[in-house]
Amino acid sequence: MENKKLIFSGIQPTGTFTLGNYIGAVRNWGPLQDEYNCIYCVVDMHAITVKQDPAKLRRNTLDSYALLMACGIDTEKSILFIQSHVKTHAELSWILGCNTQFGELSRMTQFKDKSQKHADDVNSGLFTYPVLMAADILAYNADLVPVGGDQKQHLELARNIAQRFNQRYGDFFTLPEPYIPKLGARVMSLQDPTKKMSKSDENPNAVILILDDKDTIIRKFKRAVTDSEAEVCYRDGKDGINNLMTIYSSVTGKSFADIESEFAGKGYGDFKLAVGETVADHLQPVRTEFDRLVKDKEYLKKCYTEGAEKALRYSQRVISKVYRKVGFVDR
Ligand code: TRP
Repeated sequence: MENKKLIFSGIQPTGTFTLGNYIGAVRNWGPLQDEYNCIYCVVDMHAITVKQDPAKLRRNTLDSYALLMACGIDTEKSILFIQSHVKTHAELSWILGCNTQFGELSRMTQFKDKSQKHADDVNSGLFTYPVLMAADILAYNADLVPVGGDQKQHLELARNIAQRFNQRYGDFFTLPEPYIPKLGARVMSLQDPTKKMSKSDENPNAVILILDDKDTIIRKFKRAVTDSEAEVCYRDGKDGINNLMTIYSSVTGKSFADIESEFAGKGYGDFKLAVGETVADHLQPVRTEFDRLVKDKEYLKKCYTEGAEKALRYSQRVISKVYRKVGFVDR
């Protein structure tokens, strides 16, 4: 690989991404490929920390992989792979786990939330989830990790684990930094714009999925919760309108001032329709490319097999050095 900084990120195999995943994360990954060495992975091993239907997990993993490609990740430029295909992640995870304190993991807010939500299955994988995530990143000695707010604490822990390892065994791991995308925006629920847009929302109208068809997208935007004024402007307290403006702005590149003058004197109905149509049209090429890719199973397989080989080769070099450092006997 070329001598550029290395970016690593992982995404859960949810099959389809929300407009929030897209605008806040995935859409920004494509353009990074020229400036950085990029490694992206679909984290099926993280997914099984909560109950999964095996057939669905398999399909969702493949769909997520194809969707990342449809969103602009080029497997010639980046390494794109499926986590469980690359055994070094689990191997490094064990070693890092032995350098992580029980107390640190107990403080992770995502663990606390998830163990409440899945109270019947508080398994040890759920608890050590952040250690596997640290392994994902450190197996490549990544410099930068694009993550959303909910993953900052995990990234901070990965840095602490790396630092502890370095103190114990001598400088080795790069301390990964968060990468904040220049254009990234936080997309909120269309039904409760004080909450983040999330695929697990019980109300399907709250969430735009990037594989939703045009009519569905327009319908969901039409039903978006706004306020009782009739002024399209970005202002404190207008959470619904602010969210729609953020979405419209990030898809069209227009500034808030431009949007305000475009819709001056018009009602929310016109604005919502414009946002819905624009978003649907913007996502159309992604849907088309996704449909093409999922049908071409051979090609998809070639891509993820090659991705896994490249990822294994790269991370194996790192892991061999780690094994030596901790005192394992050479094979
Ligand atoms: N935990 C991340 C999430 O739920 C996904 C993830 C797994 C990840 N491994 C990673 C993100 C490594 C960045 C780097 O969103």
